[in-house]
Amino acid sequence: MFLMHLYHFQAILIVFALNLPSATCGYIEYHGSHFRKACSVFEPAQYVANATVTVHEFVAAGTTLQFPDNDPSCARSNQTVSVDLCRVALNISTSSRSGVIFEGWFPENWAGRFLATGNGGIDGCIKYEDVNYGAANGFSTVGSNNGHNGTGGSSFYLNDDVIEDYVWRSLHVITEVGKNLTNAFYPSPFVRSYYLGCSGGGRQGVKAAEMFPQDFDGIVAGAPAVNFNNLTSWRASFFAKTGASSSPNFISADIWSELIHNEVLRQCDAIDGVADGIIENPRMCDFRPEELICAAGNATQDCLSAAQVQIVKEVFSPLYGSSGELAFPAMQVGSEVLAVQKLYAGAPFPYSLDWFRYVVYNDDFFDDSAFGVADITAAQALNPFNVQSYPSDLSKFASHNGKLLMYHGQQDNQITSFSSERFYNHLARGMTMQSPQIDNFLRFFRISGMFHCNAGPGAWMIGQASSGATGFDPESNVLAAIVRWVEQGVAPDTIEGTKFVGDVKANGVERKRKHCRYPYTNTYVGGNSSLLESWQCIQDPLGITLSDEHDIERERWEK
Ligand SMILES: *[C@@H]1O[C@H](CO)[C@@H](O)[C@H](O)[C@H]1NC(C)=O
Ligand SMILES: *[C@@H]1O[C@H](CO)[C@@H](O)[C@H](O)[C@H]1NC(C)=O
Ligand SMILES: *[C@@H]1O[C@H](CO)[C@@H](O)[C@H](O)[C@H]1NC(C)=O
Ligand SMILES: *[C@@H]1O[C@H](CO)[C@@H](O)[C@H](O)[C@H]1NC(C)=O
Ligand SMILES: *[C@@H]1O[C@H](CO)[C@@H](O)[C@H](O)[C@H]1NC(C)=O
Ligand SMILES: *[C@@H]1O[C@H](CO)[C@@H](O)[C@H](O)[C@H]1NC(C)=O
Ligand SMILES: *[C@@H]1O[C@H](CO)[C@@H](O)[C@H](O)[C@H]1NC(C)=O
Ligand SMILES: *[C@@H]1O[C@H](CO)[C@@H](O)[C@H](O)[C@H]1NC(C)=O
Repeated sequence: MFLMHLYHFQAILIVFALNLPSATCGYIEYHGSHFRKACSVFEPAQYVANATVTVHEFVAAGTTLQFPDNDPSCARSNQTVSVDLCRVALNISTSSRSGVIFEGWFPENWAGRFLATGNGGIDGCIKYEDVNYGAANGFSTVGSNNGHNGTGGSSFYLNDDVIEDYVWRSLHVITEVGKNLTNAFYPSPFVRSYYLGCSGGGRQGVKAAEMFPQDFDGIVAGAPAVNFNNLTSWRASFFAKTGASSSPNFISADIWSELIHNEVLRQCDAIDGVADGIIENPRMCDFRPEELICAAGNATQDCLSAAQVQIVKEVFSPLYGSSGELAFPAMQVGSEVLAVQKLYAGAPFPYSLDWFRYVVYNDDFFDDSAFGVADITAAQALNPFNVQSYPSDLSKFASHNGKLLMYHGQQDNQITSFSSERFYNHLARGMTMQSPQIDNFLRFFRISGMFHCNAGPGAWMIGQASSGATGFDPESNVLAAIVRWVEQGVAPDTIEGTKFVGDVKANGVERKRKHCRYPYTNTYVGGNSSLLESWQCIQDPLGITLSDEHDIERERWEK
């Protein structure tokens, strides 16, 4: 309490020094030259332990910041800033042999909210575009390199502190630092705190809810990389299934994205009532690749050999552990059009390769082509700092009135969306709750026709990041939706997504769809299928079952 007052006192001092109205008038007056002055007199080092200030500057809207020393693998050498803001970059040490690079952007148009942003994969890359997205929407926003630079994992090698930063510490530390700075910089303390991340960043959000239930009031976790150890194994397993791109039965990208994808659509697109290239609920698709087998004596290009059909079967099968237990659910169909870029490319999946090399085995020469159950067991047994991120109970988060909004693309090409359904069911069992009760603190939206985190043929723009934002309306923007849920208690029932022709707004809308929350499935009910009213959320006939999904998976894939 004393500290809170201290921050407030500091803020009031700044306000007096600048001859501004008192802080009780709110931050409305904190504008223009006053804001620039406040930024320049601010002394961030005072509020943060164990850190050095590397950048402290006012940045005017429209400026393109250059990051010349940003790791090239992050492919983020610059960022255009949307609004006037005060930028603070820090080098925070987290142990004698680890630290995080921190970015905090404090916008002039502050709406009293704090936002932390996450990372992806096993990186190491500040998502400047997300930091900017938060600041542009009035959040004081932070991001970090999650304890190491670049997309690779070599920094993990023989350094548990860098691994610990990656698993949880970096996000927790930058959240504390960011909150300290927010309260010190603005004339009044922040009112609510939020988190936004996808993929590896989705895992960070779930981890925060599990480990630090007070850190955030609202969390948006996209395509979360939960069940992390087994996910890493699952991704590693594709190379052994597909074979190298030079192997005799290798299925080329063209065959996957045309022949196989078209057959997937032929068998499953109309299950939801409309053949529009989008499978609303891939769980209802029981794909039979045998339909593509080359008839004896008919060697056309448009078919698969028996060995290739077997590869397709294996690619679409779950991953099982050493005693036959489910380790990770199957890839969902529809994703093949993009999964060819990485998982089916006939090469080791880089994130998994580095995790096995530099964390699980500390062996540069780990050979992914022989991946097997022993590797699954080894990764799961190590589980450093509980990177697993698979809580069966989030009641502490729920009782602090925290809200978690999950979303997952139904054509996700890097993390099967069945993993999020399974995680939801896992929580349901762990907390002995049916979906109407889970709905009070967790809502999971399945985004049909969306790839990993963004893009795709479906109505994928849901405000998950600046590239997917069509406005800051809680009906159609997940970040705005979590704000409304936290601050006004209005929970989102659906999230309206948009697809522009060629993903360019000026080209006009190609489709809109109101994505349903699990376990509901969007189902065509008649009329013009381009119109929102022609669809309804109905209870998923297959999805919500609290019985052991292991048996269900087995039955499905072994027949
Ligand atoms: C936040 O500020 C408090 C009070 O100055 C300090 O004790 C704490 O260490 C700070 N947190 C971090 C992560 O620097
Ligand atoms: C600062 O570093 C010291 C020594 O490494 C550590 O004990 C302390 O917890 C750190 N403080 C914060 C806020 O991280
Ligand atoms: C990591 O990247 C930051 C810039 O984002 C740079 O300042 C720092 O020197 C890099 N650290 C290492 C160890 O390369
Ligand atoms: C910003 O970075 C992108 C790629 O990340 C690059 O294509 C572009 O040329 C850069 N722009 C400026 C102004 O540096
Ligand atoms: C950050 O701090 C660490 C440890 O104090 C130091 O080794 C590193 O060079 C610093 N990096 C930057 C970019 O200041
Ligand atoms: C050969 O296969 C193609 C493609 O499946 C099919 O259209 C054609 O009818 C087949 N020809 C014979 C002779 O079976
Ligand atoms: C992960 O895989 C192991 C098999 O190695 C299995 O025993 C465990 O239950 C799996 N965990 C989850 C959450 O799927
Ligand atoms: C269906 O609705 C779309 C969008 O409003 C419209 O462009 C199209 O003409 C309609 N189709 C029919 C058959 O009415």
